[in-house]
Amino acid sequence: MGFQLKQFLIQLLEDNRGLVILLFCLPASFVSPFFLFLGPIRTALHLQIFDLFVQLRQWLHRRYLEKSTHQERVEKIRKKVEEWKKQPKGQRKLLCTARPNWQSLSTTFFNKSACERIEIDLFEVLKLDEKNMLVEVEPNVTVREICQFLNPRGYTLAVTLEIGDATLGGLAFGVGMTTYSHKVGLYQETIEEYELVTGDAKVIRVRADNEHNDLFRCLPWSHGTLGFLVSLKLRIVPAKPYIHMKYIPCFSQNEYCDEMMRLSGALNKNEKVADFVEATIYDTDKAVIMLGKFADVDTWQKRLKVNDVCWWWKPWFYKHVEKFHPQGGEEYIPLQSYLLRHNRAIFWVLESMIPFGNHPIFRLFFGWLCPPKPAFLKFTTTNAVRNMTFTKQVFQDIVMPLGTLKDQVDTATRLFDAFPLLVYPCRIYDHRRGPQGQLRSPPEKYMVPDTNYAMFNDLGVYGTPGFVKRREKYNATYAMRSMEKFTRDVGGYSFLYADIFMTEDEFEEMFDLTLYNKVRTAYSCNGAFPTLYDKIKPEVDVIKIGNDTAKVD
Ligand SMILES: Cc1cc2nc3c(=O)[nH]c(=O)nc-3n(C[C@H](O)[C@H](O)[C@H](O)COP(=O)(O)OP(=O)(O)OC[C@H]3O[C@@H](n4cnc5c(N)ncnc54)[C@H](O)[C@@H]3O)c2cc1C
Ligand SMILES: *[C@@H]1O[C@H](CO)[C@@H](O)[C@H](O)[C@H]1NC(C)=O
Ligand SMILES: *[C@@H]1O[C@H](CO)[C@@H](O)[C@H](O)[C@H]1NC(C)=O
Ligand SMILES: *[C@@H]1O[C@H](CO)[C@@H](O)[C@H](O)[C@H]1NC(C)=O
Ligand SMILES: *[C@@H]1O[C@H](CO)[C@@H](O)[C@H](O)[C@H]1NC(C)=O
Ligand SMILES: *[C@@H]1O[C@H](CO)[C@@H](O)[C@H](O)[C@H]1NC(C)=O
Repeated sequence: MGFQLKQFLIQLLEDNRGLVILLFCLPASFVSPFFLFLGPIRTALHLQIFDLFVQLRQWLHRRYLEKSTHQERVEKIRKKVEEWKKQPKGQRKLLCTARPNWQSLSTTFFNKSACERIEIDLFEVLKLDEKNMLVEVEPNVTVREICQFLNPRGYTLAVTLEIGDATLGGLAFGVGMTTYSHKVGLYQETIEEYELVTGDAKVIRVRADNEHNDLFRCLPWSHGTLGFLVSLKLRIVPAKPYIHMKYIPCFSQNEYCDEMMRLSGALNKNEKVADFVEATIYDTDKAVIMLGKFADVDTWQKRLKVNDVCWWWKPWFYKHVEKFHPQGGEEYIPLQSYLLRHNRAIFWVLESMIPFGNHPIFRLFFGWLCPPKPAFLKFTTTNAVRNMTFTKQVFQDIVMPLGTLKDQVDTATRLFDAFPLLVYPCRIYDHRRGPQGQLRSPPEKYMVPDTNYAMFNDLGVYGTPGFVKRREKYNATYAMRSMEKFTRDVGGYSFLYADIFMTEDEFEEMFDLTLYNKVRTAYSCNGAFPTLYDKIKPEVDVIKIGNDTAKVD
């Protein structure tokens, strides 16, 4: 009886997550009319009760922290590690940051209560160095905050992420990629220096050109298993206030695969490429390629074409883009709205949660409540919902050579049948001349002629697999493990924020841990921080659950 009720509730939740989220969000709408008329409308956009709570907490926190200098804050963290070190070796727990799991964008829930949690309360933009085109920040600065800081000053980060709540530290130790990456590579390529508190309580500055260069190579994709990040220097690029967008419809698989190779500069390093390149694939033979260029809007003709895609009543960005198929088109998007264009629909994750969310009436009245904060979604994740996140849904970002795009799409369609698919082209540099980190060198045949990089792409697969929508049999274990096998075979890598289904051996086939393990020994990480695999592997037995769910259906 109890079991049946549970099954029933799970089913109800599964079928109506949108409603559930709405019910959670609704209380906030009591506040809305008030703010809509009184405050600047933009404020209302970000106001949800949960958000309000988080913001208030952060504001109080910051007011308190503002009184100290960066050095003092770092020293406090260092001292905590030193105190931890004084405990007898056998009794020490492993170290991790105190950031609660629900604040991170990752889909996994690493069990932090088994660790010694160190507070890293570092929220400030420290310095803008216009001469060297660098910005120095503390790790908890978010993408939205850095946009608000840099964009009015005429700059933007070379690489960010379209999700406003992602932190600059999280991107550094995880991975960051954006539509500018076909010009500069991953986020990690734009980091000049890391400031780190190590497991033996030292504060060091890690650069490619100092004695810590081995460590420098291993920090990206290390997920906090090599030390605590306390500040970083990031490369910025000059920006203009608008992005001129050109939407190019494609009508066959060959067409978009070939065009993406050409337009990203994968064929010829001298190809004049746009500043931003992205493709959204709506179906095997239907895609829209987006080319963006920094632009000024200085005539009335141009002003007529301005479209601020981030207003809450506007269609979700990927739905908006789909309308440019088949006729194509162009427009101007304000810089910050472009950078955060996928924020409101969390790419297209929201569709599987609020299926009616893009309805004009819903958008008008409730659109400003979206996106439900990723943090809020994680905060309300029960075990049953957690099971769903990989058995009835898929969240994967996978980096593979752009030359295999056709195979990628075919494989993803065969295994998940979840459209749309996201494609961001991205350089992967071959650092073989220096020490190589966790990313293996790209296969020779994908290198762009006469350069030290290959053109890869992120394939984003988010949403509900077609098999699940149609209530057909879907074996998550089979689908995920096959996709991972494909990824390894073409020389690609899975983003580690998402659930992986690999065994440790398979993981080490995908990532090269040779230098990483050397660095762990050299910087006293063993016994101080969890290993990479232990840190990022899902906290539940995804293989078994995927397997069992397939059996039930
Ligand atoms: C739907 C969806 C789509 C996504 N699409 C993309 C995409 O297109 N491109 C892309 O690049 N990314 C994408 N991501 C992933 C996102 O970039 C990662 O989650 C990223 O790590 C940023 O998250 P965060 O700020 O929450 O970092 P966290 O998850 O908090 O941090 C990442 C890791 O670094 C560690 N860490 C963080 N700060 C510190 C510190 N100060 N000291 C030591 N360790 C630290 C954490 O413990 C964690 O292991 C997507 C995520 C989602 C949910
Ligand atoms: C900032 O990040 C650190 C480490 O990731 C974490 O301990 C802290 O809780 C974070 N604070 C906020 C408000 O995100
Ligand atoms: C997390 O770790 C703690 C301490 O080891 C343990 O008591 C707890 O059961 C764990 N929680 C989960 C969900 O595994
Ligand atoms: C999640 O799935 C596993 C395996 O099917 C099952 O044992 C567990 O009870 C599920 N959890 C919930 C809360 O449904
Ligand atoms: C699901 O796939 C896995 C991996 O291929 C396989 O071992 C398992 O038998 C499958 N489960 C079912 C019920 O078919
Ligand atoms: C998955 O299911 C198959 C049969 O359905 C079984 O043989 C296999 O051992 C299962 N694997 C796991 C890890 O549960």
